[in-house]
Amino acid sequence: MNKKKLMVHDFFRMKQAGEKITWLTSYDYPTAQFAEAAGMEMILVGDSLGMCVYGYDGTVPVTMDQCIVHCEAVARAAPNTFIVGDMPFGSYQVSDEAAVINATRFLKEAGVDAVKLEGGTRVITRIKAILDAGIVVIGHIGLTPQSSGQIGGHKAQGRTVASARLVIEDALAIEAAGAQMLLVEAVPPEVAGFIARKLTIPVFSIGAGAECDGQLLIVSDLIGQFTAFTPKFVKKYANVAEVITTAMRAYVNEVKNVTFPTDAHCYHMIKGEEDGFKKLVKEYE
Ligand code: KIV
Repeated sequence: MNKKKLMVHDFFRMKQAGEKITWLTSYDYPTAQFAEAAGMEMILVGDSLGMCVYGYDGTVPVTMDQCIVHCEAVARAAPNTFIVGDMPFGSYQVSDEAAVINATRFLKEAGVDAVKLEGGTRVITRIKAILDAGIVVIGHIGLTPQSSGQIGGHKAQGRTVASARLVIEDALAIEAAGAQMLLVEAVPPEVAGFIARKLTIPVFSIGAGAECDGQLLIVSDLIGQFTAFTPKFVKKYANVAEVITTAMRAYVNEVKNVTFPTDAHCYHMIKGEEDGFKKLVKEYE
């Protein structure tokens, strides 16, 4: 599918027109190619790669260098899709200056179109500093996995009035800081929907209901590749883990039974070389 790369102003136009925006994570070249071919409008190279690709327990160990390598592969595979680099834990917590240096790396070394960082009011100076460097910023509030220790684990947020107020305050602060888009994770749909209507910037949901301007899912959940656990908000559109395991099991069996490879999978001697080869074998006998 030959498609045009959409940019921030297109996402604003789509919000105003009520057209939903599609967003999915990808971490590698083939998956990003599939996402672009499927018509995905945005790709997030999420720090969820820590769990989905590297097998870590969470996202905290993920480094800038890992993110850059995966962003490079994805950007090569999906040149006509808006690519977002996810700022990993430790890349923006220390100072505004560190945040700008690392956000800049995403653009210069990996060719992404925007960066995303977690947190609301507490990261406003970071967001402003990155914006001042001319980089498109996407906020991420609600359940913020990098600080799951502080918010009581991977738990939905905004489920009480007091907690909903905090999520709304974060959203308002992020828009006021100038961020171009916002992701709301694991928040009741009425809270996320209110935020989407209240803000002029596009607001995305991951586990925050259908009322937002767009949806994000983790590709490893969507295709059924990540099996450790499945959050409530995930819809599995395929069971790739089963497909892959079945294929691998069949391969194991066929190798053991010598039913693979067959003649069809072999290269044969070039015509006229057979007799010469028999002589060659004799030399070694
Ligand atoms: O890293 C990621 O994939 C994310 C999602 C959980 C929103 O940040």
